[in-house]
Amino acid sequence: MRTVGEMRARRLWKLSVFEHLSSTNEYLRHLAESGAPEGTVIIAREQTAGKGRFGRRWASPKGGAWFSVLLRPPIPVEQAGCIAIVMAVSLARALRERWSVPVGVKWPNDLYVRERKLGGILIELSSSPRKIEWLIAGIGINVNNILPQETSVPATSLSCELGRVIDLEEFFDVALHALARDYERFLTEGFEFAREEWSRLSVLPAHIIVESSAERFSADVLGLSPLGKLIVRIGETVRELASEEVTLCQRQPS
Ligand code: ATP
Ligand code: BTN
Repeated sequence: MRTVGEMRARRLWKLSVFEHLSSTNEYLRHLAESGAPEGTVIIAREQTAGKGRFGRRWASPKGGAWFSVLLRPPIPVEQAGCIAIVMAVSLARALRERWSVPVGVKWPNDLYVRERKLGGILIELSSSPRKIEWLIAGIGINVNNILPQETSVPATSLSCELGRVIDLEEFFDVALHALARDYERFLTEGFEFAREEWSRLSVLPAHIIVESSAERFSADVLGLSPLGKLIVRIGETVRELASEEVTLCQRQPS
């Protein structure tokens, strides 16, 4: 028997599928600005200008799962950082349960399998001073596609991990069901469940090198804040990192 939560989870999404788009995030942004409802999902079989954080290129050939979901969460804008975590944890758990692949999460937005990047989440939003007008979660997961060669971290796909082709329609069913369930859970229960799950699934090492446009330093990872920020210690100072870039590398032994 399905619970009421599960039934609502299936109803949240309204899907449109395209053969080619430049970027599902870009396409959905126009719809969001014209008033499209929460739950609108855009899927592209192939993207010609897929993008990652900081406008980096996201390779999106046929065979992968490239999609964007539109949310209008009734939460303060300061909590928006929680959504990437909720979604990363939700996808990691769903893929583990369905395909038994050991998917981990790397703060703030990546999915990893055994030190290889499986996918990522790009959050874009528009807000007025107190309210999120729209939030787009763009999700890219390597499923059956050919992998890009020149990436900063080696890539992997579900089909590489499993040694067989995955049914992409089933992938979307599993992923969208989990995302709806955990998004609704976040809205009703708050962030704590995802924060706990994050600690179990995080692949960040204890010592990291942090890079931003202005600085580069090494730090110890202490945990995740109630707003989805990464809490680190730099020498004697404790700091919360929001959008700076965190690179997954061990500190050199001194
Ligand atoms: P990094 O992935 O280097 O740790 P990041 O997660 O902050 O950093 P993003 O901007 O979020 O990087 O993601 C874009 C990066 O992902 C690109 O610079 C490229 O190295 C890599 N990349 C691009 N396409 C793919 C893909 N299909 N699969 C895996 N990695 C990809
Ligand atoms: C990352 O930088 O790790 C996140 C990559 C997000 C890629 C997805 S693919 C669907 C959506 N459309 C885009 O142009 N980017 C996101």
